[in-house]
Amino acid sequence: MVGDPVLVGIDVGTTGVKGVAISATGEVVARVEIGYELSIPQPGWAEQDPEDWWRASELALASLGDQLGEQGGREAIAGIGLSGQMHGLVCLDAERRFLFPAILWNDQRTGEECAEIERRVGLERLIRLTGNRALPGFTAPKLLWLRRHEPDVYARIRHVLLPKDYVRLRLTGELAIDAADASGTLLFDVAKRAWSEEVLEALEIPAEWLPRVLESPEASGLTQTGVPVAAGAGDQQAGALGVGVVRPGPLSVVLGTSGVVFAALDRYACDREARVHAFCHAVPGVWEAMGVMLSAAGSLRWLRDALVPGAGYEELTAEAARWQPGVEGLLFLPYLQGERTPHADPNARGAFTGLSLVHDRGALVRAVLEGVAFGLRDSLELLRELGVEPESGRASGGGARSRLWLEIVASVLGMPLELTAVEEGAAYGAALLGGIAAGVFSDAEEAVLACVRVRDRVEPNHEWQESYERGYARFRALYPALRALEEP
Ligand code: XUL
Repeated sequence: MVGDPVLVGIDVGTTGVKGVAISATGEVVARVEIGYELSIPQPGWAEQDPEDWWRASELALASLGDQLGEQGGREAIAGIGLSGQMHGLVCLDAERRFLFPAILWNDQRTGEECAEIERRVGLERLIRLTGNRALPGFTAPKLLWLRRHEPDVYARIRHVLLPKDYVRLRLTGELAIDAADASGTLLFDVAKRAWSEEVLEALEIPAEWLPRVLESPEASGLTQTGVPVAAGAGDQQAGALGVGVVRPGPLSVVLGTSGVVFAALDRYACDREARVHAFCHAVPGVWEAMGVMLSAAGSLRWLRDALVPGAGYEELTAEAARWQPGVEGLLFLPYLQGERTPHADPNARGAFTGLSLVHDRGALVRAVLEGVAFGLRDSLELLRELGVEPESGRASGGGARSRLWLEIVASVLGMPLELTAVEEGAAYGAALLGGIAAGVFSDAEEAVLACVRVRDRVEPNHEWQESYERGYARFRALYPALRALEEP
Protein backbone atom coordinates (compact mmCIF):
# COMPACT_ATOMS: atom_id res chain seq x y z
CA MET A 1 0.00 0.00 0.00
CA VAL A 2 1.22 3.49 -0.93
CA GLY A 3 0.41 6.63 1.11
CA ASP A 4 -2.67 7.02 3.33
CA PRO A 5 -5.13 4.14 3.31
CA VAL A 6 -8.25 4.41 1.17
CA LEU A 7 -11.37 2.42 2.10
CA VAL A 8 -13.87 1.27 -0.49
CA GLY A 9 -17.57 0.49 -0.06
CA ILE A 10 -19.59 -1.31 -2.73
CA ASP A 11 -23.38 -1.35 -2.41
CA VAL A 12 -25.13 -3.85 -4.69
CA GLY A 13 -28.47 -2.06 -4.98
CA THR A 14 -31.71 -2.66 -6.86
CA THR A 15 -31.06 -0.13 -9.61
CA GLY A 16 -27.27 -0.37 -9.71
CA VAL A 17 -23.98 -0.63 -7.87
CA LYS A 18 -22.85 2.40 -5.90
CA GLY A 19 -19.18 2.60 -5.04
CA VAL A 20 -17.39 5.03 -2.81
CA ALA A 21 -13.77 5.46 -1.75
CA ILE A 22 -13.04 7.37 1.45
CA SER A 23 -10.03 8.48 3.44
CA ALA A 24 -9.41 7.26 7.00
CA THR A 25 -10.98 10.52 8.20
CA GLY A 26 -14.16 9.99 6.22
CA GLU A 27 -13.73 12.33 3.21
CA VAL A 28 -15.08 10.93 -0.04
CA VAL A 29 -12.20 10.76 -2.52
CA ALA A 30 -13.97 8.93 -5.35
CA ARG A 31 -17.47 7.80 -6.18
CA VAL A 32 -19.14 5.86 -8.97
CA GLU A 33 -22.55 4.51 -9.88
CA ILE A 34 -23.22 1.82 -12.49
CA GLY A 35 -26.79 0.87 -13.30
CA TYR A 36 -28.39 -2.38 -14.44
CA GLU A 37 -31.78 -3.68 -15.43
CA LEU A 38 -34.59 -4.95 -13.26
CA SER A 39 -36.64 -7.60 -15.00
CA ILE A 40 -40.37 -7.91 -14.33
CA PRO A 41 -41.35 -11.11 -16.18
CA GLN A 42 -44.83 -11.07 -14.63
CA PRO A 43 -46.73 -8.46 -12.60
CA GLY A 44 -45.45 -8.51 -9.02
CA TRP A 45 -42.25 -10.39 -9.92
CA ALA A 46 -38.77 -8.81 -9.77
CA GLU A 47 -35.61 -10.53 -10.98
CA GLN A 48 -32.01 -9.68 -11.79
CA ASP A 49 -29.08 -11.39 -13.44
CA PRO A 50 -26.32 -11.93 -10.81
CA GLU A 51 -23.75 -11.56 -13.60
CA ASP A 52 -24.91 -7.93 -13.97
CA TRP A 53 -24.08 -7.28 -10.30
CA TRP A 54 -20.62 -8.69 -10.76
CA ARG A 55 -19.93 -6.81 -14.01
CA ALA A 56 -21.08 -3.54 -12.41
CA SER A 57 -19.01 -4.18 -9.25
CA GLU A 58 -15.90 -4.93 -11.31
CA LEU A 59 -16.40 -1.75 -13.33
CA ALA A 60 -17.08 0.26 -10.15
CA LEU A 61 -13.87 -1.00 -8.53
CA ALA A 62 -11.87 -0.24 -11.67
CA SER A 63 -13.33 3.26 -11.90
CA LEU A 64 -12.64 4.00 -8.22
CA GLY A 65 -9.06 2.77 -8.72
CA ASP A 66 -8.65 5.07 -11.76
CA GLN A 67 -9.98 8.05 -9.79
CA LEU A 68 -7.44 7.50 -7.01
CA GLY A 69 -4.50 8.96 -8.92
CA GLU A 70 -3.60 11.54 -6.28
CA GLN A 71 -4.07 9.07 -3.44
CA GLY A 72 -1.64 6.56 -4.94
CA GLY A 73 -3.95 4.69 -7.35
CA ARG A 74 -5.64 1.40 -6.65
CA GLU A 75 -2.66 0.23 -4.54
CA ALA A 76 -3.89 2.71 -1.91
CA ILE A 77 -7.04 0.61 -1.30
CA ALA A 78 -6.54 -0.95 2.15
CA GLY A 79 -9.95 -2.56 2.64
CA ILE A 80 -13.24 -3.17 0.86
CA GLY A 81 -16.69 -3.58 2.42
CA LEU A 82 -19.84 -4.90 0.77
CA SER A 83 -23.47 -4.03 1.30
CA GLY A 84 -26.51 -4.82 -0.76
CA GLN A 85 -30.20 -5.20 -1.29
CA MET A 86 -31.39 -7.70 1.30
CA HIS A 87 -33.50 -10.88 0.98
CA GLY A 88 -32.74 -11.69 -2.71
CA LEU A 89 -32.24 -15.37 -3.57
CA VAL A 90 -29.23 -16.55 -5.59
CA CYS A 91 -29.01 -20.32 -6.18
CA LEU A 92 -25.79 -21.95 -7.36
CA ASP A 93 -25.00 -25.47 -8.56
CA ALA A 94 -22.03 -27.60 -7.47
CA GLU A 95 -19.77 -25.65 -9.88
CA ARG A 96 -20.97 -22.38 -8.29
CA ARG A 97 -22.82 -21.30 -11.43
CA PHE A 98 -26.15 -19.63 -10.87
CA LEU A 99 -29.13 -21.73 -11.76
CA PHE A 100 -31.94 -19.21 -12.01
CA PRO A 101 -32.31 -15.41 -12.14
CA ALA A 102 -32.05 -13.86 -8.68
CA ILE A 103 -35.51 -13.31 -7.14
CA LEU A 104 -35.44 -9.92 -5.40
CA TRP A 105 -36.65 -8.38 -2.13
CA ASN A 106 -39.57 -6.63 -3.85
CA ASP A 107 -40.88 -9.77 -5.59
CA GLN A 108 -44.37 -10.68 -4.44
CA ARG A 109 -44.86 -14.16 -5.97
CA THR A 110 -44.57 -16.24 -2.80
CA GLY A 111 -47.85 -15.59 -0.95
CA GLU A 112 -48.71 -19.31 -0.85
CA GLU A 113 -45.24 -20.29 0.31
CA CYS A 114 -45.39 -17.73 3.14
CA ALA A 115 -48.60 -19.36 4.33
CA GLU A 116 -46.91 -22.77 4.05
CA ILE A 117 -43.95 -21.63 6.18
CA GLU A 118 -46.18 -20.20 8.89
CA ARG A 119 -48.17 -23.46 8.85
CA ARG A 120 -45.12 -25.77 8.93
CA VAL A 121 -43.17 -23.90 11.60
CA GLY A 122 -46.14 -22.34 13.43
CA LEU A 123 -46.41 -18.53 13.41
CA GLU A 124 -45.56 -18.07 17.06
CA ARG A 125 -42.54 -20.37 16.87
CA LEU A 126 -41.36 -18.76 13.63
CA ILE A 127 -41.44 -15.32 15.26
CA ARG A 128 -39.71 -16.66 18.36
CA LEU A 129 -36.94 -18.29 16.30
CA THR A 130 -36.38 -15.76 13.54
CA GLY A 131 -37.79 -12.50 14.95
CA ASN A 132 -39.95 -12.17 11.86
CA ARG A 133 -43.00 -13.51 10.10
CA ALA A 134 -42.97 -14.92 6.59
CA LEU A 135 -43.11 -12.00 4.15
CA PRO A 136 -43.13 -12.55 0.37
CA GLY A 137 -39.89 -10.59 -0.12
CA PHE A 138 -37.86 -12.73 2.29
CA THR A 139 -35.54 -15.50 1.07
CA ALA A 140 -36.97 -18.74 2.51
CA PRO A 141 -40.38 -18.53 0.75
CA LYS A 142 -38.53 -18.10 -2.56
CA LEU A 143 -36.72 -21.40 -2.03
CA LEU A 144 -40.05 -23.10 -1.40
CA TRP A 145 -41.43 -21.46 -4.53
CA LEU A 146 -38.57 -22.93 -6.58
CA ARG A 147 -39.16 -26.35 -5.00
CA ARG A 148 -42.81 -26.23 -6.11
CA HIS A 149 -42.53 -24.47 -9.49
CA GLU A 150 -39.01 -25.29 -10.73
CA PRO A 151 -38.21 -28.73 -9.27
CA ASP A 152 -35.36 -29.36 -11.76
CA VAL A 153 -33.65 -26.15 -10.70
CA TYR A 154 -34.28 -26.93 -7.05
CA ALA A 155 -32.74 -30.41 -7.40
CA ARG A 156 -29.45 -28.92 -8.61
CA ILE A 157 -29.06 -26.30 -5.84
CA ARG A 158 -25.87 -26.70 -3.78
CA HIS A 159 -25.35 -23.15 -2.51
CA VAL A 160 -27.69 -20.33 -1.55
CA LEU A 161 -26.43 -16.73 -1.36
CA LEU A 162 -27.76 -13.20 -1.01
CA PRO A 163 -26.94 -10.59 -3.69
CA LYS A 164 -23.80 -8.97 -2.25
CA ASP A 165 -22.50 -12.41 -1.26
CA TYR A 166 -22.49 -13.44 -4.90
CA VAL A 167 -20.26 -10.43 -5.60
CA ARG A 168 -18.03 -11.56 -2.70
CA LEU A 169 -17.76 -15.03 -4.22
CA ARG A 170 -16.53 -13.56 -7.51
CA LEU A 171 -14.23 -11.09 -5.77
CA THR A 172 -12.61 -13.44 -3.24
CA GLY A 173 -13.68 -16.99 -4.13
CA GLU A 174 -15.29 -17.30 -0.68
CA LEU A 175 -18.79 -18.47 0.23
CA ALA A 176 -19.75 -16.36 3.25
CA ILE A 177 -22.47 -14.14 4.69
CA ASP A 178 -22.78 -11.78 7.66
CA ALA A 179 -25.27 -12.11 10.53
CA ALA A 180 -26.99 -8.83 9.59
CA ASP A 181 -27.95 -9.82 6.04
CA ALA A 182 -28.61 -13.45 7.05
CA SER A 183 -31.30 -12.11 9.42
CA GLY A 184 -33.50 -11.34 6.42
CA THR A 185 -33.55 -14.91 5.09
CA LEU A 186 -36.09 -16.26 7.63
CA LEU A 187 -33.67 -19.20 8.10
CA PHE A 188 -31.64 -17.45 10.78
CA ASP A 189 -31.86 -17.53 14.55
CA VAL A 190 -31.48 -13.79 15.07
CA ALA A 191 -31.07 -13.99 18.85
CA LYS A 192 -28.26 -16.58 18.52
CA ARG A 193 -26.72 -15.03 15.39
CA ALA A 194 -26.55 -18.47 13.69
CA TRP A 195 -28.56 -20.48 11.14
CA SER A 196 -31.69 -21.94 12.73
CA GLU A 197 -31.51 -25.73 12.62
CA GLU A 198 -35.12 -25.89 13.75
CA VAL A 199 -36.44 -23.79 10.89
CA LEU A 200 -34.23 -25.55 8.32
CA GLU A 201 -35.52 -28.90 9.51
CA ALA A 202 -39.16 -27.82 9.51
CA LEU A 203 -38.81 -26.49 5.95
CA GLU A 204 -36.63 -29.43 4.79
CA ILE A 205 -33.89 -27.14 3.49
CA PRO A 206 -30.36 -28.64 3.65
CA ALA A 207 -28.09 -26.71 6.03
CA GLU A 208 -25.08 -27.47 3.74
CA TRP A 209 -26.49 -25.03 1.16
CA LEU A 210 -25.91 -22.08 3.45
CA PRO A 211 -22.63 -20.15 3.66
CA ARG A 212 -20.61 -19.69 6.84
CA VAL A 213 -21.72 -16.76 8.99
CA LEU A 214 -19.37 -13.95 10.02
CA GLU A 215 -19.91 -10.66 11.83
CA SER A 216 -20.08 -7.66 9.45
CA PRO A 217 -16.62 -6.14 10.13
CA GLU A 218 -14.77 -9.49 9.92
CA ALA A 219 -12.61 -10.11 6.85
CA SER A 220 -14.32 -12.73 4.68
CA GLY A 221 -11.40 -13.20 2.28
CA LEU A 222 -8.95 -11.36 0.08
CA THR A 223 -9.14 -10.01 -3.45
CA GLN A 224 -6.67 -11.34 -6.03
CA THR A 225 -4.37 -8.46 -5.10
CA GLY A 226 -4.57 -9.28 -1.38
CA VAL A 227 -7.04 -6.60 -0.18
CA PRO A 228 -9.26 -7.78 2.71
CA VAL A 229 -13.01 -7.79 2.00
CA ALA A 230 -15.25 -7.28 5.05
CA ALA A 231 -18.24 -9.57 5.43
CA GLY A 232 -20.44 -6.47 5.06
CA ALA A 233 -24.15 -6.05 5.76
CA GLY A 234 -27.61 -5.52 4.31
CA ASP A 235 -28.16 -2.05 2.93
CA GLN A 236 -30.23 -0.82 5.88
CA GLN A 237 -27.70 -1.90 8.48
CA ALA A 238 -24.76 -0.55 6.48
CA GLY A 239 -26.70 2.68 5.89
CA ALA A 240 -27.39 3.05 9.62
CA LEU A 241 -23.69 2.57 10.35
CA GLY A 242 -22.90 5.16 7.66
CA VAL A 243 -24.95 7.81 9.52
CA GLY A 244 -23.40 6.81 12.85
CA VAL A 245 -26.19 4.65 14.32
CA VAL A 246 -24.16 1.95 16.08
CA ARG A 247 -25.65 1.76 19.59
CA PRO A 248 -29.00 2.68 21.15
CA GLY A 249 -29.36 6.44 20.59
CA PRO A 250 -30.48 8.26 17.46
CA LEU A 251 -32.70 6.37 15.02
CA SER A 252 -31.84 5.94 11.36
CA VAL A 253 -34.72 7.43 9.34
CA VAL A 254 -34.53 6.66 5.64
CA LEU A 255 -36.61 8.48 3.02
CA GLY A 256 -35.60 6.35 0.06
CA THR A 257 -37.89 4.59 -2.43
CA SER A 258 -38.89 2.68 0.68
CA GLY A 259 -39.02 4.32 4.11
CA VAL A 260 -37.32 2.96 7.20
CA VAL A 261 -37.25 3.75 10.89
CA PHE A 262 -34.36 1.79 12.40
CA ALA A 263 -33.27 1.50 16.05
CA ALA A 264 -30.03 -0.10 17.26
CA LEU A 265 -30.60 -2.32 20.32
CA ASP A 266 -28.10 -3.60 22.86
CA ARG A 267 -30.12 -6.82 23.25
CA TYR A 268 -32.32 -8.93 21.01
CA ALA A 269 -35.95 -7.78 21.12
CA CYS A 270 -38.84 -8.63 18.89
CA ASP A 271 -42.45 -7.49 18.54
CA ARG A 272 -44.87 -10.29 19.49
CA GLU A 273 -46.59 -10.05 16.14
CA ALA A 274 -43.35 -9.17 14.29
CA ARG A 275 -44.86 -5.96 12.92
CA VAL A 276 -41.32 -4.52 12.90
CA HIS A 277 -38.38 -6.64 11.75
CA ALA A 278 -35.87 -7.89 14.35
CA PHE A 279 -32.44 -8.32 12.74
CA CYS A 280 -28.78 -8.42 13.79
CA HIS A 281 -27.01 -5.10 13.30
CA ALA A 282 -23.72 -4.71 11.44
CA VAL A 283 -22.06 -4.23 14.83
CA PRO A 284 -21.15 -7.41 16.77
CA GLY A 285 -23.29 -7.80 19.90
CA VAL A 286 -25.84 -5.24 18.66
CA TRP A 287 -29.29 -5.97 17.21
CA GLU A 288 -31.74 -3.75 15.41
CA ALA A 289 -35.48 -3.37 15.05
CA MET A 290 -36.89 -1.59 12.04
CA GLY A 291 -40.13 -0.72 10.39
CA VAL A 292 -40.09 -0.75 6.59
CA MET A 293 -42.70 1.04 4.50
CA LEU A 294 -42.59 0.09 0.85
CA SER A 295 -43.49 3.43 -0.79
CA ALA A 296 -41.90 6.50 0.82
CA ALA A 297 -40.05 8.66 -1.71
CA GLY A 298 -41.53 6.12 -4.14
CA SER A 299 -44.95 7.69 -3.43
CA LEU A 300 -43.69 11.14 -4.39
CA ARG A 301 -42.09 9.74 -7.54
CA TRP A 302 -45.39 8.07 -8.44
CA LEU A 303 -47.31 11.35 -7.97
CA ARG A 304 -44.75 13.30 -10.00
CA ASP A 305 -44.81 10.76 -12.84
CA ALA A 306 -48.62 10.62 -12.82
CA LEU A 307 -49.19 14.41 -12.73
CA VAL A 308 -46.14 16.19 -14.11
CA PRO A 309 -43.63 13.75 -15.62
CA GLY A 310 -40.18 15.26 -15.69
CA ALA A 311 -40.91 18.01 -13.13
CA GLY A 312 -38.26 18.68 -10.50
CA TYR A 313 -39.02 17.66 -6.93
CA GLU A 314 -38.01 21.14 -5.73
CA GLU A 315 -40.72 22.73 -7.85
CA LEU A 316 -43.32 20.33 -6.45
CA THR A 317 -42.32 20.70 -2.80
CA ALA A 318 -42.30 24.51 -3.22
CA GLU A 319 -45.97 24.25 -4.26
CA ALA A 320 -46.63 22.00 -1.25
CA ALA A 321 -45.01 24.51 1.12
CA ARG A 322 -47.81 27.00 0.32
CA TRP A 323 -50.32 24.74 2.11
CA GLN A 324 -50.90 24.60 5.84
CA PRO A 325 -50.32 21.28 7.66
CA GLY A 326 -53.34 19.02 7.35
CA VAL A 327 -53.97 20.34 3.79
CA GLU A 328 -57.59 21.30 4.55
CA GLY A 329 -58.54 17.72 5.39
CA LEU A 330 -56.73 15.99 2.52
CA LEU A 331 -55.10 12.72 3.60
CA PHE A 332 -52.94 10.25 1.67
CA LEU A 333 -52.44 6.56 2.43
CA PRO A 334 -49.10 5.50 0.91
CA TYR A 335 -49.72 1.78 0.33
CA LEU A 336 -49.15 1.90 -3.42
CA GLN A 337 -47.60 -1.57 -3.63
CA GLY A 338 -48.90 -3.18 -0.46
CA GLU A 339 -47.30 -2.49 2.90
CA ARG A 340 -44.90 -4.23 5.27
CA THR A 341 -44.98 -2.23 8.53
CA PRO A 342 -47.34 -2.23 10.31
CA HIS A 343 -49.80 -4.31 8.25
CA ALA A 344 -47.71 -7.01 6.49
CA ASP A 345 -50.31 -6.86 3.71
CA PRO A 346 -49.10 -7.21 0.10
CA ASN A 347 -52.65 -6.37 -1.06
CA ALA A 348 -53.00 -3.07 0.84
CA ARG A 349 -53.60 -0.14 -1.52
CA GLY A 350 -53.16 3.64 -1.40
CA ALA A 351 -55.82 6.36 -1.25
CA PHE A 352 -56.48 10.09 -1.17
CA THR A 353 -59.42 11.08 1.05
CA GLY A 354 -60.97 14.43 1.87
CA LEU A 355 -60.54 15.89 -1.65
CA SER A 356 -62.37 19.12 -2.45
CA LEU A 357 -62.37 21.82 -5.12
CA VAL A 358 -59.86 23.89 -3.16
CA HIS A 359 -57.13 21.29 -3.59
CA ASP A 360 -54.51 21.83 -6.27
CA ARG A 361 -51.33 20.02 -7.25
CA GLY A 362 -49.35 21.42 -4.30
CA ALA A 363 -52.04 20.09 -1.96
CA LEU A 364 -51.69 16.58 -3.39
CA VAL A 365 -47.92 16.79 -2.97
CA ARG A 366 -48.17 17.99 0.63
CA ALA A 367 -50.66 15.22 1.45
CA VAL A 368 -48.16 12.67 0.07
CA LEU A 369 -45.32 14.13 2.18
CA GLU A 370 -47.54 14.02 5.26
CA GLY A 371 -48.97 10.53 4.55
CA VAL A 372 -45.46 9.09 4.29
CA ALA A 373 -44.52 10.83 7.56
CA PHE A 374 -47.55 9.22 9.25
CA GLY A 375 -46.45 5.83 7.89
CA LEU A 376 -43.02 6.38 9.51
CA ARG A 377 -44.77 7.34 12.75
CA ASP A 378 -46.47 3.90 12.74
CA SER A 379 -43.01 2.30 12.80
CA LEU A 380 -41.83 4.65 15.55
CA GLU A 381 -44.81 3.73 17.75
CA LEU A 382 -44.03 0.01 17.34
CA LEU A 383 -40.39 0.62 18.24
CA ARG A 384 -41.56 2.48 21.35
CA GLU A 385 -43.51 -0.64 22.34
CA LEU A 386 -40.16 -2.48 22.32
CA GLY A 387 -38.78 0.03 24.81
CA VAL A 388 -36.93 2.23 22.32
CA GLU A 389 -36.85 5.84 23.59
CA PRO A 390 -35.17 7.87 20.89
CA GLU A 391 -34.55 11.59 21.20
CA SER A 392 -33.47 12.25 17.63
CA GLY A 393 -33.08 10.68 14.22
CA ARG A 394 -30.44 10.70 11.49
CA ALA A 395 -32.10 11.22 8.13
CA SER A 396 -30.85 9.91 4.78
CA GLY A 397 -32.16 8.91 1.35
CA GLY A 398 -33.25 11.03 -1.63
CA GLY A 399 -36.28 12.48 0.20
CA ALA A 400 -34.00 13.93 2.90
CA ARG A 401 -32.89 16.55 0.34
CA SER A 402 -36.25 18.30 0.89
CA ARG A 403 -36.15 20.64 3.87
CA LEU A 404 -39.96 20.77 3.92
CA TRP A 405 -40.26 16.98 4.04
CA LEU A 406 -37.71 16.77 6.84
CA GLU A 407 -39.61 19.41 8.82
CA ILE A 408 -42.88 17.50 8.32
CA VAL A 409 -41.28 14.18 9.36
CA ALA A 410 -39.56 15.78 12.38
CA SER A 411 -42.90 17.30 13.45
CA VAL A 412 -44.87 14.06 12.98
CA LEU A 413 -42.22 11.96 14.78
CA GLY A 414 -41.81 14.67 17.42
CA MET A 415 -38.01 14.66 17.30
CA PRO A 416 -35.19 16.56 15.60
CA LEU A 417 -33.62 15.02 12.52
CA GLU A 418 -29.89 15.37 11.87
CA LEU A 419 -28.14 15.20 8.52
CA THR A 420 -24.62 13.86 8.20
CA ALA A 421 -21.90 15.34 6.00
CA VAL A 422 -21.75 12.47 3.50
CA GLU A 423 -24.82 11.24 1.64
CA GLU A 424 -23.50 7.97 0.24
CA GLY A 425 -25.69 5.81 2.49
CA ALA A 426 -25.04 2.09 2.50
CA ALA A 427 -21.84 2.29 0.43
CA TYR A 428 -20.36 4.64 3.03
CA GLY A 429 -21.20 2.24 5.88
CA ALA A 430 -19.69 -0.60 3.82
CA ALA A 431 -16.47 1.41 3.43
CA LEU A 432 -16.32 1.82 7.23
CA LEU A 433 -16.66 -1.97 7.57
CA GLY A 434 -13.84 -2.36 5.03
CA GLY A 435 -11.75 -0.08 7.26
CA ILE A 436 -12.34 -2.28 10.29
CA ALA A 437 -11.51 -5.46 8.33
CA ALA A 438 -8.27 -3.79 7.21
CA GLY A 439 -7.34 -2.81 10.77
CA VAL A 440 -7.56 0.94 10.06
CA PHE A 441 -10.23 1.20 12.80
CA SER A 442 -10.50 -1.10 15.78
CA ASP A 443 -14.33 -1.24 15.73
CA ALA A 444 -17.51 0.40 14.48
CA GLU A 445 -17.53 3.06 17.17
CA GLU A 446 -13.99 4.15 16.33
CA ALA A 447 -14.86 4.20 12.62
CA VAL A 448 -17.91 6.41 13.26
CA LEU A 449 -15.95 8.72 15.54
CA ALA A 450 -13.27 9.17 12.87
CA CYS A 451 -15.57 9.58 9.87
CA VAL A 452 -19.23 10.50 10.57
CA ARG A 453 -20.02 14.19 11.17
CA VAL A 454 -23.40 15.86 11.67
CA ARG A 455 -23.75 18.89 9.38
CA ASP A 456 -27.31 20.06 9.98
CA ARG A 457 -30.33 19.57 12.22
CA VAL A 458 -34.03 20.09 11.49
CA GLU A 459 -36.28 20.72 14.52
CA PRO A 460 -39.96 19.79 14.77
CA ASN A 461 -42.25 22.73 14.04
CA HIS A 462 -44.27 23.09 17.24
CA GLU A 463 -47.01 25.07 15.52
CA TRP A 464 -47.70 22.13 13.20
CA GLN A 465 -47.70 19.37 15.78
CA GLU A 466 -51.26 19.68 17.05
CA SER A 467 -52.62 19.44 13.53
CA TYR A 468 -50.37 16.42 12.90
CA GLU A 469 -51.60 14.61 16.01
CA ARG A 470 -55.16 14.94 14.67
CA GLY A 471 -54.01 13.94 11.19
CA TYR A 472 -52.22 10.86 12.53
CA ALA A 473 -55.37 9.70 14.34
CA ARG A 474 -57.32 9.98 11.05
CA PHE A 475 -54.51 8.21 9.19
CA ARG A 476 -54.66 5.28 11.63
CA ALA A 477 -58.38 4.90 11.02
CA LEU A 478 -58.08 4.87 7.24
CA TYR A 479 -56.60 1.43 6.54
CA PRO A 480 -59.20 -0.52 8.58
CA ALA A 481 -61.96 1.57 6.96
CA LEU A 482 -60.69 0.75 3.46
CA ARG A 483 -60.30 -2.93 4.33
CA ALA A 484 -63.97 -2.98 5.33
CA LEU A 485 -64.88 -1.66 1.86
CA GLU A 486 -62.96 -4.36 -0.01
CA GLU A 487 -64.89 -6.86 -2.05
CA PRO A 488 -64.98 -10.25 -0.33
C1 XUL B 1 -34.94 -4.25 3.99
C2 XUL B 1 -35.36 -4.19 2.57
C3 XUL B 1 -34.75 -3.18 1.67
C4 XUL B 1 -33.94 -3.93 0.64
C5 XUL B 1 -33.72 -3.16 -0.63
O1 XUL B 1 -35.66 -5.18 4.72
O2 XUL B 1 -36.16 -4.94 2.09
O3 XUL B 1 -33.97 -2.28 2.33
O4 XUL B 1 -32.78 -4.34 1.25
O5 XUL B 1 -33.06 -2.01 -0.54
